[in-house]
Amino acid sequence: MTTLLKNCTLANKLNVNITITDGTITAIGNQTKADKIIDIKGKTVLPGIIDSHVHFREPGGEQKEDWLTGSMAAVAGGVTTVIDMPNNDPPITDLATLNKKRKLTKKSLVNFGFFFGATTNNIEEVRKVSGIAGIKIYVGSSTGNLLVAQDDDIKKLMEIPNINWVIHAEDEELIRKNSQQISENSNSAIHSQIRNRQVAMKGVERVIDLAKETNARIHICHISTAEEVSLIKKAKNANLQITCEVSPHHLFLNDGAYEKFGNFVKVNPPLRTKKDNEALLKGLNDGIIDIIATDHAPHTIKEKETPYHDAPAGIPEVQTSLPLMLNEVNKGTITIEQLIEIMSAQPAKLFSLQNKGLIAEGYDADITVVDMDKKQIINKEMLLSKCGWSPYENMKITGWPVMTFVNGNLVYDQGKINQQFKGREITYGKI
Ligand code: DOR
Ligand code: ZN
Repeated sequence: MTTLLKNCTLANKLNVNITITDGTITAIGNQTKADKIIDIKGKTVLPGIIDSHVHFREPGGEQKEDWLTGSMAAVAGGVTTVIDMPNNDPPITDLATLNKKRKLTKKSLVNFGFFFGATTNNIEEVRKVSGIAGIKIYVGSSTGNLLVAQDDDIKKLMEIPNINWVIHAEDEELIRKNSQQISENSNSAIHSQIRNRQVAMKGVERVIDLAKETNARIHICHISTAEEVSLIKKAKNANLQITCEVSPHHLFLNDGAYEKFGNFVKVNPPLRTKKDNEALLKGLNDGIIDIIATDHAPHTIKEKETPYHDAPAGIPEVQTSLPLMLNEVNKGTITIEQLIEIMSAQPAKLFSLQNKGLIAEGYDADITVVDMDKKQIINKEMLLSKCGWSPYENMKITGWPVMTFVNGNLVYDQGKINQQFKGREITYGKI
């Protein structure tokens, strides 16, 4: 079965035709024949967006999200591949539990991969595991019970060669100290004080030092402050194997949002200042921040409406990250070429995803078609995550995904989802 996408606008070329044969891109040029022809005229074609940081909550958090609803939100947001975090219930810290989780992904409409969780006592499992994108270390605690807070334990892990260590770098000791000192009230804004910028800086500093000692390759998740950008720049200049990501909420929301959203914008690491928003955007522009990854972390409205201390941290993001970034392209803050790099090409490279992240012959036909001129307000009705809310509701966005092809199948087409096609597990090259 061949499909021809006719008259595509790629970032750097106009009027290109793309042939897809059995899920693979087989020709790019001016070929005209195929079993099925779709005219893409006037729309821009991107390699499918890869979101390397999502929490789709199965197993254990099905009231918040599952693999069907999470992947519906993904595909409607132009995302064709996700990599899911291990802080499930039970956590994904042994091979048997990972294999059980693999079975739950049968409903996923997008391609998927997994991170495996490190603990203080699963080093043998960490050594054995394969077919994953990397090992997650929670240096500071967050949702779930994964935590490796002590340098000695982190170092023992990082001494294992050929692993991409993916790190939640908040300093646990400082979080605990701050929580004791800051008296609790019901104001969610104290979240940014308990987990203040020093918490994030110290976490990043510590793992950079440990990476120096062990020669490990590290990826820092969701950096949130200007200081982390500087620390990572310095480490990159010293030739450490370090990469990092930023999440949309740290680019587009700041501590001014507590007043309106309360616990709905409680997230780890927390929202910072407008200045940090700007420094992070600059970090992306300068190439110090390698990728955008959403940290899509849905929680129900009911859970978020509990008092500060009880409300879980996390914000749903997978459906809105591409629109938010397309809106930035339209504003002129970043270019469409940069967007492709940070949302598809680089995530594929960084996690060694085979045949993903490019529109090129031989690559998987994961393709996102966007209408750069489409204007629409983000509204509740369009949100497909099971949690059913977004802090970006009512924002007017210019630039929207209109079609999403996963493995050559048109799974999302202008508001409609075709659930007949399922995603598959990604494969990895050597790191
Ligand atoms: O705010 C967060 N929520 N940060 C994390 O690190 C985990 C996530 C979740 O799983 O809820
Ligand atoms: Zn996360």
